[in-house]
Amino acid sequence: MTTNFTDFDIEAVRRDFPILQQRLSGDMPLVYLDTAATAQKPRCVVAKVVECYEQYNSNVHRGIHQLGDRMTTELESAREKVQRFIGANEPDEIVFTSGTTMSLNIVAHGWGRKFLRPGDEVLVNPMEHHANLVPWQLAAAATGATLRYIPLTADGRLDLSQLDELLTRKTKLIAVTAMSNVLGTINPIDELARRAHDVGALICVDGAQSVPHALTNVRSPQIDFLAFSGHKLYGPTGVGVLYARRQLLEAMDPFLAGGHMIREVFLDSSTWADPPAKFEAGTCPFIQAVGMGAAIDYVNSIGLAKIGHYEHLLSVQAHEKLSQVPGVKIHGPAVEHKGAILSFTVDGVHPHDLSDLLDRRGVAIRAGHHCTMPLHELLNLTATARASLAFYNTPAEVDALVEAVQGARRVFRLK
Ligand code: ALA
Repeated sequence: MTTNFTDFDIEAVRRDFPILQQRLSGDMPLVYLDTAATAQKPRCVVAKVVECYEQYNSNVHRGIHQLGDRMTTELESAREKVQRFIGANEPDEIVFTSGTTMSLNIVAHGWGRKFLRPGDEVLVNPMEHHANLVPWQLAAAATGATLRYIPLTADGRLDLSQLDELLTRKTKLIAVTAMSNVLGTINPIDELARRAHDVGALICVDGAQSVPHALTNVRSPQIDFLAFSGHKLYGPTGVGVLYARRQLLEAMDPFLAGGHMIREVFLDSSTWADPPAKFEAGTCPFIQAVGMGAAIDYVNSIGLAKIGHYEHLLSVQAHEKLSQVPGVKIHGPAVEHKGAILSFTVDGVHPHDLSDLLDRRGVAIRAGHHCTMPLHELLNLTATARASLAFYNTPAEVDALVEAVQGARRVFRLK
């Protein structure tokens, strides 16, 4: 890949995102560095959502009328776009959910509670977002299974040196993020999937941060469960995806029950529809799903490999410049092992004060524990500041971040 900053038509990209054109109070240009929390939406996604509401809004898989047919066709077309985007075998392996959290809960409760037994083990680790940890705590408590933990290295990567001891025939599943939402760490999903399958275990991957920024193919390595969100993929809020192999979706129990997910209902029992309907109880977020399909078209029109490379160049620049500011510590591994996420602390400035001072210069970052309390405990911190980059950010915005951090230090009279 030879892409460099000048190969990437950043001005054209930014024209696609109206929100980025605005100026905030104090006439500050918006510098949006909070994409890991939610990504901005290109005009075509907003237009597609408006088109749905204005032209053919109607419930899906229900109405025997033209609007219902059109909306259903659009929804199923979005499902096929997701299928191709992640390399799934068939559209029916794509379940539309409300987001990553719901997707992971469907796995923990629909698969975990059905198949885990006392003595079984689920392998997790301290860098997981609460959404890929707490559901497994509940599933373990309900079944008598045990959670075990892959430790982290000092630089915030999975320490696989103890994997032979941790991963045994007792292990039924590894729950792991493909990219940490705090450290940015890119985890070795290939190796973990292979090692899990060698002992007859499954792998459940949280792709919320990785899927929008790096190519994903659920068949290579073979991923059993993959969860991600539409709103982090430049699509609407309120929609996400659970991918699972068809045999798994057929074997596991539904999590939510109600309309659409049934085959037959009697007063005292029911049978289930085939996947994906079995996991889409009630009215699914159909317009949001169509918007996510438009977002995938948009990402494909630029190319995810090109996007990822540009984001990496920005990340390198951010790491180099921010790490030179006195008192700044960037947490996590070296830039080549991570996505474009920088969680950092500044000696003498609380992350929330830092976030507030940056905001006064128009620089939007996130501060807090980022839904990873165990990780922050390990780091011996209560909070970090987090800047997360996307392909609509510019080298000048990275410089604005660095200057704003220097400005915050001056406010606190740090030498
Ligand atoms: N999980 C999202 C984040 O890390 C909200 O910011």
